[in-house]
Amino acid sequence: MATEQYHEPAEQLSQTTRTFARMITGLIEEAEAIGWYEQRLSLEKDAAARAIMEDAQKEEFKHFSMDLEFLLRRKKDWRKVLRGIVMVPGDIVKNAEKAEAAAD
Ligand SMILES: [Fe+2]
Repeated sequence: MATEQYHEPAEQLSQTTRTFARMITGLIEEAEAIGWYEQRLSLEKDAAARAIMEDAQKEEFKHFSMDLEFLLRRKKDWRKVLRGIVMVPGDIVKNAEKAEAAAD
């Protein structure tokens, strides 16, 4: 089943851009799955079911991270900004402002 992953006419997009768009869609789907498991875990009382959901959510962390790394390898400016924000201690907003300025 086709998805609505292209914002522009698909036939006019390069193969590289189509792949990028597919990976962006994948990243969104993995993030959604992480959020869905978070909601299920907040309600589930059965310990065995919770264990399975926690395991599944960890898989989604891996999938999200692989998609993100693929995209970052193709967008060097994105990686530059990310390096100033992700896994950096301190105020997130201030780090983002610094990272944005450093990437310019
Ligand atoms: Fe996944």
